[in-house]
Order: sequence, then C-alpha cells, then structure tokens
Amino acid sequence: MTEPSALRKVTAPAVSAHKHVDTPLVMVTAYDAPSARIVDAADVDMILVGDSVAMTVLGYDDTLQVTTADIAHHVGAVARTHPRALVVADLPWMSYHVSTEDSVRNAATLIRAGAGAVKLEGGRKRLDAVHVILDAEIPVMGHLGLTPQSFHTIGGFRVQGRDLEAARAIVDDAIALAEAGCFAIVLECVPDAVARLVTDSVAVPTIGIGAGRHCDGQVLVFHDLVGLETRITPKFVRRYADLTADATAAVSRFAADVRGGRFPSSEETYHAADGVADALQLYGGSTTEHAPA
Ligand code: KIV
Repeated sequence: MTEPSALRKVTAPAVSAHKHVDTPLVMVTAYDAPSARIVDAADVDMILVGDSVAMTVLGYDDTLQVTTADIAHHVGAVARTHPRALVVADLPWMSYHVSTEDSVRNAATLIRAGAGAVKLEGGRKRLDAVHVILDAEIPVMGHLGLTPQSFHTIGGFRVQGRDLEAARAIVDDAIALAEAGCFAIVLECVPDAVARLVTDSVAVPTIGIGAGRHCDGQVLVFHDLVGLETRITPKFVRRYADLTADATAAVSRFAADVRGGRFPSSEETYHAADGVADALQLYGGSTTEHAPA
C-alpha cells in the first residue's frame, strides 16, 4: 500500500490511490473466520468474500446459486475477526440486475454485515447500479473479463477479450467503470496484452486473476492457493500448500488411532477425583438402577 503501516486498516481510498506503485496489491478470498484470520495474518491488502463461496464451500456448480443473505452470512464471519485488510463483498447474481433500489439495498445489506466495499460484475451495462451504490456512499469494485455470473451467456468459464473487438469492449468498460468512480477493477481471465492496456488506460488499480503480470494487483481464491480445492486447477492458479492431502492424512491417522485403541490416551481423558471412581465401580454398569434412594 502507499501508506505502509502494519496496523492501519486498509480503506477503499487507500486502495484506489495504489496506482503506479512498485509493490502490487494483494487480495485473497475468505469466507469464514479461520480463513479470514489466516489471510489477514499473511498481511494481504484486501479480503474478498467472493460468490466463489458457492463453488468452493457450498458445493454448487456455479456462482449463480448464492443470494445476498448467503454472502452477508459469510461477510459477518469474516468481519467479526476485525481484519486489517479491506473486506470486499461480492454482490451476487440478481442482486443488482433488477432495479436500482434493489441494488442499493443489497449493497447496504453487505455493508451492514461488515464489508467495507462491494464488487459487482459487468461494465457499461451496470453503470446505473454503480452510480446508485456510490451515491449511497458505498465503495464499488468492478469486475471485467470472465464474469462468472454471465456463465450461461458467455458459454462457460473461458478466457475473454481474445479478439480485437472483445478486447476493445473490455477497455471501454474499464474506462467507464473508473470514470463512474469504481475504486479498483478485477480483470479475470483476459490475455496479458489486454490487461496491460486496461491497466494503462484507467486511473484506478486493476487486480488480475488469470490476467498476467501487467496489473496493479493480483487475487487468488484461498481454497485454490492452499490446495483445499483440487478438483479443477485453472492455468493461472499457483498452489502454495496441499491442505487437502495434509488434512486427509491427519483424519486418517485419527481414524487409525481410534480403531487401534490408541485414542484417547490417559492424558486426553478427564479423570474422576480419588475415591469417586472406586465408588462408581461398586455400583456396576448402571448408576440409576443401583443408586441409593
Ligand atoms: O468470487 C470470487 O472469488 C471472485 C474472484 C475470482 C475475483 O470474484
């Protein structure tokens, strides 16, 4: 960040000012208190309570299944850890597509749950929503390129902006979002040349995921980064741990210890006071049957 301080809470204006700075911004998703504590202890700048929670945690096949209430539930868990990082909450599908009133109310629900900003997908098409949410004093992060909420219209999770027209549309959308007042823009799954052009064309930071190195910051999904999600590994994911393997091995050892009579040990057991255990033995198996009247 431009104002490096180990303790200062990260704000949307501080993120917005982080342009033309050598050190890129870091954003990682978190959806609950333990993961929020981990990523904040790792000193990220922003925690994204993404609608990716639908797939990584809730077992859905796409992000379209989660509601504002679902995201608010996870934002609350993250915010109660009081992270230094800015908490950005995803506005889910259909929470800003119906009316401007709906959009601002849903954004407010996420702010009341503890977020410091909201993120929404789409460019010029979503400017009305961006304007009303900003009018309500809520910072907005944009999201362009592969927008998973458009899964059905774009025909799957695929790289966007590959041809000239599509690339230009992404640049124009980014300029429109930045001019409308978005404090940062996520660029997902676009060729690096497109990300570079967007980054050079807007005055606010771009945060890339599958967009190459020419962005002002990078974001990864926590479960991908630590190897808790191993079913699909997109090309842009770098895995820094294998928690699925570690956790499976730990639970297997527990199961083997239980089955082998090695768990619990005496140290892991509460013992009755002297004499009480002996007295209990005298009553045999059932204390209710033999208890004195
Ligand atoms: O929901 C999410 O995790 C996201 C990131 C992929 C940017 O939007």
